[in-house]
Amino acid sequence: MMLNVNGLSSGYGDVTVLEDITFCVESEIFTVLGANGAGKTTLLKTLAKLLPVKSGTVEWRGETITDMPPYELPSRGMAYVPQEGNVFPDLSVAENLSIGGLLDLPSREERLSEVYELFPRLVDRSEQLAGSLSGGEGQMLAVGRALMQRPEIILFDEPSAGLSPQFVDTLFQKILEIREKQNVTIVLAEQNAVKALEIADRVLVLSLGKIHLLEDARDFDKNRLMEAYHI
Ligand SMILES: Nc1ncnc2c1ncn2[C@@H]1O[C@H](COP(=O)(O)OP(=O)(O)OP(=O)(O)O)[C@@H](O)[C@H]1O
Ligand SMILES: [Mg+2]
Repeated sequence: MMLNVNGLSSGYGDVTVLEDITFCVESEIFTVLGANGAGKTTLLKTLAKLLPVKSGTVEWRGETITDMPPYELPSRGMAYVPQEGNVFPDLSVAENLSIGGLLDLPSREERLSEVYELFPRLVDRSEQLAGSLSGGEGQMLAVGRALMQRPEIILFDEPSAGLSPQFVDTLFQKILEIREKQNVTIVLAEQNAVKALEIADRVLVLSLGKIHLLEDARDFDKNRLMEAYHI
């Protein structure tokens, strides 16, 4: 068991958004679906320790991280790619990647060449400011930065947002490749249910901050997803 979430509630100040969420994530692609405002970002931020846990527990590889500060997570193998603001716009592509690689790990150059191999476009853009990249290039960079940590798990918040359909395909193939070749566990929050289901092992559907459905992707009944979107 990688990530174990038990009875989790969280939100913003006095507002509770997520209520009594229980699930575990194995070594897999675990997709979180749900309509706008369902609580996907809130869940990922809570797992990344950017929002306080109101009640319940979060365990990562057997260690309780419920009250751990966010800066402790990268050294424990957890990476988080937020929905927005996931690169430093005033730094170059290469500088963004080196910041992702600041952890005290050997083989920084090796990791950098792995990222450049996965996203050759970033090689051409390496001296360009991250703020001047296209949406898709910016997402590649955000994923690349996370990979520079050599993580065991990546929490992705809507990586496909704003991308062209063709680029969404490419990005999802890359995520699958990261999963298969580097054995990284993936938690993927998505609006794009159709694409996410193509690569998912299991699916959690949130509706108004609660679990609507949790099941294997291959048993997944799309009608149940529609129910969650129509509330
Ligand atoms: N900073 C905040 N303060 C108060 N409430 C917030 C804040 N951010 C989000 N919320 C509320 O929490 C609920 C869940 O929002 P969240 O961003 O987690 O949804 P989401 O599933 O990620 O939606 P989307 O698909 O639009 O990204 C919403 O009702 C939202 O209004
Ligand atoms: Mg969101």
